[in-house]
Amino acid sequence: RNLELEQQLQAHEWTSKLYHFLLKNTEHGKPAMDYLKSRGFTDKAIDTFQIGYAPARWDTLVQFLEKRSFDLGTMEKGGLLSAKQDGTGYVDRFRDRVIFPLHNRNGKVIALAGRVLGEGQPKYLNSPESKLFSKSRTLYNLHQAKSEIRKSRQIILFEGYGDVISAWEAGVHNGVATMGTALTESHAAMMRGLADEIIVCYDGDNAGQAAALKSIPILESIGFNTKIALLSEGLDPDEFIQKYGAERFRHQVLDGAVSSVKFKLIYLKKNHILLEEDGKVAYIKDALEVIAPLPSPTEREIYLKEMSADLQVSFDSLKQECNEMRQAMQ
Ligand code: CTP
Ligand code: MN
Ligand code: MN
Ligand code: MN
Ligand code: MN
Repeated sequence: RNLELEQQLQAHEWTSKLYHFLLKNTEHGKPAMDYLKSRGFTDKAIDTFQIGYAPARWDTLVQFLEKRSFDLGTMEKGGLLSAKQDGTGYVDRFRDRVIFPLHNRNGKVIALAGRVLGEGQPKYLNSPESKLFSKSRTLYNLHQAKSEIRKSRQIILFEGYGDVISAWEAGVHNGVATMGTALTESHAAMMRGLADEIIVCYDGDNAGQAAALKSIPILESIGFNTKIALLSEGLDPDEFIQKYGAERFRHQVLDGAVSSVKFKLIYLKKNHILLEEDGKVAYIKDALEVIAPLPSPTEREIYLKEMSADLQVSFDSLKQECNEMRQAMQ
C-alpha cells in the first residue's frame, strides 16, 4: 500500500510536468495559453504555479503512464485516470482543461484541478478524494506561501486558484485558498501553526460573504486574530486586481480589512431594510446580539456610538438595551 502511494505521488509529479510542458511548448496547448493570457496570467505565474494543459484526447496520459510502466488501476485509484464504463480499460480523467496542480504542504503534487477554457460545466473538475488527497485538509499554495506566512505571522485566505495567483502577482505572497468556501477545522489548525493573524478575502458575492461570516467562529475559536476584506461590486479578488490593479488591492482591500465584529454588523445591515421601522428595530436587535457579548466596555461603546449616529437612535437607549441583553446572557 505504501508502494501504491509512492507510485501515485511519482505519477502526479510526472503528469503535472507533462501538462505544463504541453501548455507551454505545443500547438495543442495554444488555446489554453491564449485563455490564460486573456485572464492576465503572466509566464512567470504559469511557471511558479506549474499551470498546465490536459489535451482533448482520451489517452494522452494513459499512453504516457503506460510507457513508464505505471499500473493503471493504481493510477485510477489516485484519480489521474477514470475506468471505462464497460470495464475494458482506462481513459484520461482530465481532458481539454487548464490544469492547476495541488500540492501538499511539503510541495508534493497530490491532486489536479482542471478548468474548462471559458464557459462550461463543471467549471472545475478536481481529483477525487483518495488516500493521497483530502480537500478538507488541503490548502492551495500553502507549500509556497509558508515561509512568507511564518515571517509575517499573517495569512491571507482566498477561495480560489485565480485569487491566489493574481494576489501573488500583486506582491502578496502569503496567500492560500480553501478551493471553494468550505473552511474546515483542519484547515484552520494547519494555518494556526504558522500565523497569528488571518485576513479572510473571500469573493464579494453573496456566497463568498456568507462563507466569510461562517469562517469567523472557526478561526476565532483557535485564537486567530481575524479580519475580513470587503470587496465591492460582488467582485472576487482576482477580478478586483485585474480591474483596479495591485496597489488598490493591497491598500484598499487588504489594509482596509475590518474586524470580525465590524464585518458582522455590516453583513447584518445589508440584510435588513432600514427604511422601515420594523426593519430598523430588527437590525438593532441583531446588532446588539453581536455587541453585547464583547468583554471590553470601550469596544462596546465605540460600536454603539457608531450605530447611534448611523441610525439616528440615541446612544442612551442603545446602551440601555445592550446592558439588558448582557444581563440576560449571564
Ligand atoms: N471550485 C471547485 N469546483 C467548482 C467550482 C469551484 O472546486 N465546480 C473551487 C475552486 O477551487 C475555485 C473555488 O472553488 O477556485 C472558488 O470558486 P469560484 O469563485 O466559483 O471560482 P473562481 O476561483 O472565481 O474561478 P474562475 O476565476 O476561474 O472563474
Ligand atoms: Mn516551468
Ligand atoms: Mn466564489
Ligand atoms: Mn471566485
Ligand atoms: Mn474568479
